[in-house]
Amino acid sequence: MDNFRTIIEPFRIKAVEAIPILDGPTRVRALDRAGHNLFRLRADEVTIDLLTDSGTGAMSARQWGALMQGDESYAGSRSFFRFEEAVRELTGYNHIFPVHQGRAAERILARTVIKPGQIVANNTHFDTTRANVEQVGAVALDLPCALAAQTRVSARFKGDMDVAALQELLAQRGPEVALVMVTLTNNAVGGQPVSMANLESVSQICRQAGVPFFLDGARFAENAWFIRVHEPAYSDWKLPDIAHKMFSLADGCTISAKKDGIVHIGGVLATQRDDWAELFRCEMILGEGFPSYGGLAGRDLEAMAVGLEESLDADYLRYRVRSVAYFAEGLERVGIPVVQPPGGHAVFIDAGMFLDHLPADAFPGQALAAAFYLEGGVRGVEVGSLMFPDSRLQLLRMALPRRVYTQAHIDYVLEVAERIVAKAPTLKGYRILHEPPFLRHFSATLTPV
Ligand code: F0G
Repeated sequence: MDNFRTIIEPFRIKAVEAIPILDGPTRVRALDRAGHNLFRLRADEVTIDLLTDSGTGAMSARQWGALMQGDESYAGSRSFFRFEEAVRELTGYNHIFPVHQGRAAERILARTVIKPGQIVANNTHFDTTRANVEQVGAVALDLPCALAAQTRVSARFKGDMDVAALQELLAQRGPEVALVMVTLTNNAVGGQPVSMANLESVSQICRQAGVPFFLDGARFAENAWFIRVHEPAYSDWKLPDIAHKMFSLADGCTISAKKDGIVHIGGVLATQRDDWAELFRCEMILGEGFPSYGGLAGRDLEAMAVGLEESLDADYLRYRVRSVAYFAEGLERVGIPVVQPPGGHAVFIDAGMFLDHLPADAFPGQALAAAFYLEGGVRGVEVGSLMFPDSRLQLLRMALPRRVYTQAHIDYVLEVAERIVAKAPTLKGYRILHEPPFLRHFSATLTPV
């Protein structure tokens, strides 16, 4: 397929789900009722839902078939062994625990091996990872590479960790560092990938300092694809071999399988360390369940085993990454700046730059999110001062669910974007009416100013 301009969806559609087509006045009423917070809309008030790529993917016929094979035995279920084998083949780790989603793995990790006052360094913590680290009284430190902040610079591997900053941290405060994590891909800075070279450096530095190193592998497959395409040493490697090598550089991982596991619910906690596995097992039983089901049904484990494998299919990943790039190119063409280069799972619009008449405290990302909804029923998510009060960037993320929307859906969103460009100077900012004590973006209510 390499000589074609069009990269087709490498699947055909076997089951369809109607999407709501709404008129303008209905959307105005819905947004009003939701307190101008798109998280508070009913999903049946949304036409194209780009809120997240998490748990929103379409399972394959193989996965739906695997569901029926679920063994629902309480202990030692056949489905667990299938799942364990799939994760072991992917990661090489010895100790493998299913959990209900990524943050459950993060919570177990935080509660077992991170002590109050210690430090966890990450290329950039995802918000639930940060919250779990802080919940046990530790400090979550982000060490993104310098280029990550330059949204218009189209450099490779902007998800990398700042290796010099890590070295300095370990030299000065090494004994206080409980754990180093690298998030693949780096969601918070635009779904940017991390290079194998960077993972190798981080791994080596951690080993020398005797500090444990974990991966947040939520989007391990997309990261592996970028390594294959942009890191010359890996251009002829098989994708599962690249993924395996990434995991082999760390002592363990957390994975939200709702992303590259292409399931609606599920996650993984895995490690090479026998001592930590023991701690995880005890903590598992407290919160998730017996270690052979971990807060899931046997059928979920079956679907995860298949999904983790399917996400490393080259035709799928080529289409996946190309779709995101196509979306980003279309937005730039109509005059909407996006974080460059496009990442693996979403386009991140630079709303601060696009709506430069709105200051950060008027939430330009939220203003643009509301505009996309009002104009065409498209739902994205603000990643700016509403989500992170001291955020440097004001972004609007449009995440693509896996295998769900076609190119025609993206073309429609681009048409909505074109209409918004014409109105941009008149878009109003927002003010918060009510906010909860933490993770305010999920439930705050706002009003236009
Ligand atoms: N790590 C990363 C990098 C994530 O993006 C997420 C979730 C998690 C961990 C937590 O996993 O949701 O299964 O508990 N990200 C979603 C998003 C919610 O929209 O980006 P979870």
